[in-house]
Amino acid sequence: MVSDLRTINVTKRFGGITALNSVNIRVEPDSIVMLIGPNGSGKTTLINVIAGYYKPDKGHVLFNGFDITGWLPHEIFKTGIVRTFQIPRPFKKLSVLDNLLLAVRSNPGESIINALFRAEKWKEREREALQKAYDVLELLDLERVKNKKAAELSGGQLKLLEIGRALMAEPKLILMDEPVAGVNPSLAHEIMDHIVSLRNTLRLSFLIVEHRLDIVLDYVDKVYAMSHGKVISVGKPSRVISDPQVVEAYLGG
Ligand SMILES: Nc1ncnc2c1ncn2[C@@H]1O[C@H](COP(=O)(O)OP(=O)(O)OP(=O)(O)O)[C@@H](O)[C@H]1O
Ligand SMILES: [Mg+2]
Repeated sequence: MVSDLRTINVTKRFGGITALNSVNIRVEPDSIVMLIGPNGSGKTTLINVIAGYYKPDKGHVLFNGFDITGWLPHEIFKTGIVRTFQIPRPFKKLSVLDNLLLAVRSNPGESIINALFRAEKWKEREREALQKAYDVLELLDLERVKNKKAAELSGGQLKLLEIGRALMAEPKLILMDEPVAGVNPSLAHEIMDHIVSLRNTLRLSFLIVEHRLDIVLDYVDKVYAMSHGKVISVGKPSRVISDPQVVEAYLGG
């Protein structure tokens, strides 16, 4: 799947605060890119601009050559850019399988006409959705817990379910804010292994915001470090984290 994302001079202000100041990033096809930086440096704002939750004041977002700047979230979702949320929000009383099925049905981009048309093709769609859900369960090693209620899952399994729900939308690029926050180290490594294998097998790209550098850095292709709304360093993980400007940004708070 083709997936090439660029931001060009993206600027976003909130009142007097410049949350993003002329930010240029690129997420190449089949790559895992990480955004790091101290609290308040603009990481979540950048994710929100890319996903269409915020309109930038200046600059452009390009996806596979299309200018998607200012598109609505559901329009961006349809292009294949899917955002998982920091706090996994499945329906707690429903099973893992039902949560996956619901992720495909509640496609926010669906028009009423499509929904009506879908009723006619219901059985076929159901069968396809079920097949897709089983594929996702297998990809994420969640088959064993498919009938468990979401409320019974561990924190790590919930994170995987959140990734699974994103996969049901057949994404090209997944945006994740803190995918391993609050997860114990061995599960966190397991989640990152899954992300790498999804990149390899489905040829998805990922843009990941994460504070737990110790866990995530080994798995990513490229890192952007941000500070005060600007990109201050970019490159291979080892290079970026030893960049004096990055060290200074963290120490300076
Ligand atoms: N909706 C908003 N309204 C006003 N100010 C905002 C809004 N969202 C973010 N900001 C401000 O923009 C700046 C960047 O915030 P952002 O949430 O993008 O940082 P972050 O890098 O994600 O931080 P953290 O690591 O703590 O999650 C901060 O100064 C923040 O207070
Ligand atoms: Mg944030």
